[in-house]
Amino acid sequence: MKYIKKKLTIDNIPVQNIAKKFNTPTYCYSYSQLKNNINSFKKNFKSFSPLICFAIKSNTNVNLIKEISKFGLGADVVSIGELMKALKAGIKPNKIVFSGVGKTSEEINFAIKKKILLINAESKSEIFEIERIAKKNKKSVAVGIRFNPNVDAKTLSQISTGKKENKFGIGEKEFLELTKYIKKSKNLNLKCLSVHIGSQILDVKPYENMLLALNKIIKKTNHSFEYIDLGGGMGIDYKNDNKKLNLKKYSQNIKKFLKNYDSKIIFEPGRSIVGNIGTLISKVTYIKEGHKKNFIILDVAMNDLMRPALYNSKHRIIPAVKIGKKVKKTYEFVGPICESTDKFLTINNFQKLAEKDLVVICDVGAYGMSLSSNYNVRPKAIEILIKNSKIKVINKRQKLADIV
Ligand code: LLP
Repeated sequence: MKYIKKKLTIDNIPVQNIAKKFNTPTYCYSYSQLKNNINSFKKNFKSFSPLICFAIKSNTNVNLIKEISKFGLGADVVSIGELMKALKAGIKPNKIVFSGVGKTSEEINFAIKKKILLINAESKSEIFEIERIAKKNKKSVAVGIRFNPNVDAKTLSQISTGKKENKFGIGEKEFLELTKYIKKSKNLNLKCLSVHIGSQILDVKPYENMLLALNKIIKKTNHSFEYIDLGGGMGIDYKNDNKKLNLKKYSQNIKKFLKNYDSKIIFEPGRSIVGNIGTLISKVTYIKEGHKKNFIILDVAMNDLMRPALYNSKHRIIPAVKIGKKVKKTYEFVGPICESTDKFLTINNFQKLAEKDLVVICDVGAYGMSLSSNYNVRPKAIEILIKNSKIKVINKRQKLADIV
């Protein structure tokens, strides 16, 4: 994304042109950014060539997943619906891992029939259920156990998953018992140890602590795991202040860790693959002048982009056309929904805006569209992909008639 002659462009196409053609709100993804992200992810970890399973939950657009699969990535899924989408996008079952604390019998059955790489179980009951279904199908099923390392990911509490008070994974004592149990089972094949401590992690230290905890537990199990699935969670630079996770350091730590084991590493990144490829183009509906601040009422709302309302997360907002002149007002960018949390950002010294102006909300490729809803009976936005200077509609705008 860059300004060319004061006009904001995405892969050289002016945002104004996109809005004119497709209207607003529009989710716009950049293929070139996607390609960069995947290649740099691979490069960072190339010394041990991991299996990279894209976390489908971060962006569930089948056409986008198709593009991702062409780079050789697999998928991390957490429901039968996500599994179906991954398969539909052409991802081979032997590159799919299934995570989540509440897989139903139907979901387990489907995953077994499709012969996916791994079902990563998160409780004793789930292991028993997988075993029961495997037995019924006369199969031996490859499983992993998700370990809860009791590590603080130092991220938002709402997206922290590796502490013992979180519902995810299994603590040490039960992990050891389950390992013994699975090793004796005829219908289960213990192939993987998995872990995922949280999302939007910017500090490498929690990952170091996670690896230490893994070392400890693997030694105690005395089992040779074919796979070690380290989950995802790599954070991105939402503030545009260059505070990034030190992937090189993380990679070196893993390399060191692997000296003791003959295991293949799996990653489940979502945000770091698609977070910065997406922008949400929006139009100013009204400007409501207040005493101390002006409300910039946009045509996007919390139903389109839920992250600010859910986690108070901040996504940069920038104008589609730069006029340079700043105003000494406070602008509060809000949506039209009848909730006070339907707001995106408060900015001082933004350029002067007028009604019908276009603005862009940045870095919404992950957990943007995938968390959207029809709240307030608002149709879901159109999704487009810019690839090789061409615009492809990868998901049509929902028709009002279809949701009414
Ligand atoms: N693996 C597992 C088991 C997960 O639970 C998650 C994310 C991932 C991988 C991918 O994590 P990532 O690389 O994207 O950080 N809605 C929140 C994020 C929730 C993440 C849930 N789990 C947000 O908008 O920030």
